[in-house]
Amino acid sequence: MPEKLVEVVNLSKSYQSAKKGLFRKSRIPVLRNVDLQIAPGEILGLVGESGSGKSTLGKAVLKLIDADEGDIVFDGQNLGGLTTSQLRARRKDMQIIFQDPYASLDPRKTVRAALSEALETHGLYTGDAQEPRLEALMKMVGLSAEFLGRLPHEFSGGQRQRIGIARALAVEPRFIVADEAVSALDVSIQAQVLNLLADLRRDTGVAMLFISHDLSVVRFISDRVMVLYLGRVMEVGPANDVHFAPAHPYTAALVSAEPSLKPKGERIGLKGEIPSPMNPPSGCVFRSRCPFAIGACDEKIPELRLIGQGRYKACIRDDILKGAE
Ligand SMILES: Nc1ncnc2c1ncn2[C@@H]1O[C@H](COP(=O)(O)OP(=O)(O)OP(=O)(O)O)[C@@H](O)[C@H]1O
Ligand code: SF4
Ligand SMILES: [Mg+2]
Repeated sequence: MPEKLVEVVNLSKSYQSAKKGLFRKSRIPVLRNVDLQIAPGEILGLVGESGSGKSTLGKAVLKLIDADEGDIVFDGQNLGGLTTSQLRARRKDMQIIFQDPYASLDPRKTVRAALSEALETHGLYTGDAQEPRLEALMKMVGLSAEFLGRLPHEFSGGQRQRIGIARALAVEPRFIVADEAVSALDVSIQAQVLNLLADLRRDTGVAMLFISHDLSVVRFISDRVMVLYLGRVMEVGPANDVHFAPAHPYTAALVSAEPSLKPKGERIGLKGEIPSPMNPPSGCVFRSRCPFAIGACDEKIPELRLIGQGRYKACIRDDILKGAE
């Protein structure tokens, strides 16, 4: 078992429904019994359709939102037991990069102000040490130090995302959640930013939870991939194995939906829309869209079980999708 930096144990999260029931408030379950582990320096990719609960999981791991149930353990410390000020201090180690850096950067603040604020929050690189640190950060993300005096609107989308990355890296975190960090960028810029993140992981040893709805993007950067559907984990395994030989019908459907990829065997189409989390199918939650569903699939929720070296799937059928063998 590799050393763990981040461990999530049996995490569940629901949101208050906007529509209240007749007699009681109803809640929408968004994450159900999620477990995950991330080793130091590891990139775990998290993939799934819109609404599958990826961002909720990313925020819950960082304790930016509270889960209903479950534990988040960071470097051996259960974050649930921390006081507000202890958690604030811990935040130095756990940062986030958003999809839209424009929304997360104050339009009236220069890059220098945004980056120095991040440092000052944690009392890092104060006084004379600050300017060299800011210049080094700009260099790390491939931007000229001359840009430190600019405002966010004076940058392109790709450059702004580099600033978002610099801001996350400023405090030397050990773990970053990157939530759709390249999704808003043009394909060629996406590749540059992905390469930058991969280089930064190599150079700084930062671990990441890399979230995207695009499996090929996730596969490119991740060591392992976790597939989420309606708030439940469907499959986990080494990135290439999951992408090129998916073991779960949902993963196979995601692969089939990629225009650029020729999957082994037949293409598996996804029928219909993702069901409402308020009313998920009984048994396997993927049942209503699964081309391999059999009668037994509605009997109980399939457990995430070990099916090979580091590979897990939550599906009762062993006789399908054996591409890995
Ligand atoms: N603050 C909230 N209040 C109520 N419901 C919410 C809230 N945030 C998210 N949800 C619901 O929780 C579910 C999961 O949302 P989440 O944003 O985690 O999904 P996602 O996988 O990140 O989707 P996307 O790919 O669109 O970003 C959705 O059904 C969403 O409508
Ligand atoms: S348990 Fe049944 S419905 Fe669920 S993925 Fe497997 S075959 Fe499909
Ligand atoms: Mg999201």
